[in-house]
Amino acid sequence: MSDNAKHLLIVEDETALRAAMAAQLTDAGYDVQEAGSGEDALTRLAEFAFDIIITDLRLPGIDGSELVEAAVARYPDIIAIVVTGYGTVKDAVEAIKRGAEDFVSKPFQIDELVHALNSALEKRRLKSENAYLRAQLEERYRFEGIIGKSRPMTQLFQLLETVAPTSSTILISGETGTGKEVVARAIHHNSPRRVQRFVALNCSAIPETLLEAELFGHVRGAFTGAVGNRQGRFEQAHKGTIFLDEVGTMSAGLQMKLLRALQEREFERVGDSHTIKVDVRVIAATNGDLGRMVAEGQFREDLFYRLNVIPVQLPPLRDRKEDIPLLVQHFLDKFLNERNPNGPADVARGAAAPSTVSQEAMRRLMAFGWPGNVRQLENAIERAVALSVGRSQIDVVDLPVEFQPAAPALSTLSADVTLPEEGLDLDAFMSSIERELIQRSLERTSGNKGRAARLLHLKRTTLVEKLKRIDRRP
Ligand SMILES: Nc1ncnc2c1ncn2[C@@H]1O[C@H](COP(=O)(O)OP(=O)(O)OP(=O)(O)O)[C@@H](O)[C@H]1O
Ligand SMILES: [Mg+2]
Repeated sequence: MSDNAKHLLIVEDETALRAAMAAQLTDAGYDVQEAGSGEDALTRLAEFAFDIIITDLRLPGIDGSELVEAAVARYPDIIAIVVTGYGTVKDAVEAIKRGAEDFVSKPFQIDELVHALNSALEKRRLKSENAYLRAQLEERYRFEGIIGKSRPMTQLFQLLETVAPTSSTILISGETGTGKEVVARAIHHNSPRRVQRFVALNCSAIPETLLEAELFGHVRGAFTGAVGNRQGRFEQAHKGTIFLDEVGTMSAGLQMKLLRALQEREFERVGDSHTIKVDVRVIAATNGDLGRMVAEGQFREDLFYRLNVIPVQLPPLRDRKEDIPLLVQHFLDKFLNERNPNGPADVARGAAAPSTVSQEAMRRLMAFGWPGNVRQLENAIERAVALSVGRSQIDVVDLPVEFQPAAPALSTLSADVTLPEEGLDLDAFMSSIERELIQRSLERTSGNKGRAARLLHLKRTTLVEKLKRIDRRP
């Protein structure tokens, strides 16, 4: 008998039947113990955590139903199967209410019992598998909606757990779309500062001349257009967190002022000499290599060290492909919720978007390099959800053009049509162009078929017909 054999308790007062059942179930691979009465069974249950209990319903003393109830109360995961001697389904139903999984009526073939047992075990296995998946989904939220189970991501979660509660300055680097802003927000929300403000400022989005006033505020008349006194972002973030995005784009002059603000936690509003003190946690982000910018003389070394107290490096998506299926599921859930706010009602109307991705589509998603990282993946899934409304699965055709099988049509949309040396299949070629244009029109109209049809000078019904044909395409 293998170590992981299931432990089974048979409760039956007819000795001969009990012995026969025990022998056959032992042959079937179970580790079997026997009890001749409900009382005896209770004693054994108190001493040992059986996986399965099979009990006769009619027993002298404590009956089978009571025994099932007691067993399930003690071991919620135990599988209970009852054997009913009188064909009284009513008793069996009562036992099931009390927690039995199934019942077999006497007389029975041992096969029937084994079958009931196997299906109960299978049901249990599926249940715990679902529980496992759900637990995984929960766990992926280990850091505020930052999804990932790859090694670099789990290491990141660990690091964030450690540093978030502190007030240390953090420098987040990573390519575009890797989640720098989500991480910055997660850090704030996992710090004691969460009750205060998270103030984000994209340093590259504000003209150089206005950035200083944006950061530190200004007083009336400080510059043309400064009509009143105004708080800067540092002041707004007092006791909270300031997120300085794309910090690498700051001019040399501002870098110096920022350095002072970081060192002393004090500054003056533009046009004012009054010094303001703040308590702010600083999180900076860059999608460049700030270290290299220092080496090249484009970024102050002292400021770099002030910012880079705790470096957080976000890996590009192509280096953690095992996160792709999780992210795909996450974005599917997100866009489905947006699409099907009425849940089952939408599904019933056939207006629902699919909740799964075909194997082939997933393979392609995983094989792609994702230069735009998670943001690009998110956009691709949003588009696919829009294109696949009314179908059961997202397929390759719903993915952006980079994912389509190399079709001559792709180049022809922007370049000249060339006739290859070996010729081409005109019908297939034309329909690939048609498919591409239909997809683009749907993309542009967020899946609105009426507007997409108008863009293509088609009747809506014609577009729907064409879509059906595309779907049937092998
Ligand atoms: N690990 C992740 N789990 C779930 N969503 C993510 C993850 N990483 C990024 N996203 C999502 O991807 C999008 C881009 O993320 P974010 O804006 O944080 O990127 P970024 O690194 O700041 O990009 P950029 O440098 O272009 O500003 C957002 O919608 C964000 O919610
Ligand atoms: Mg960003």
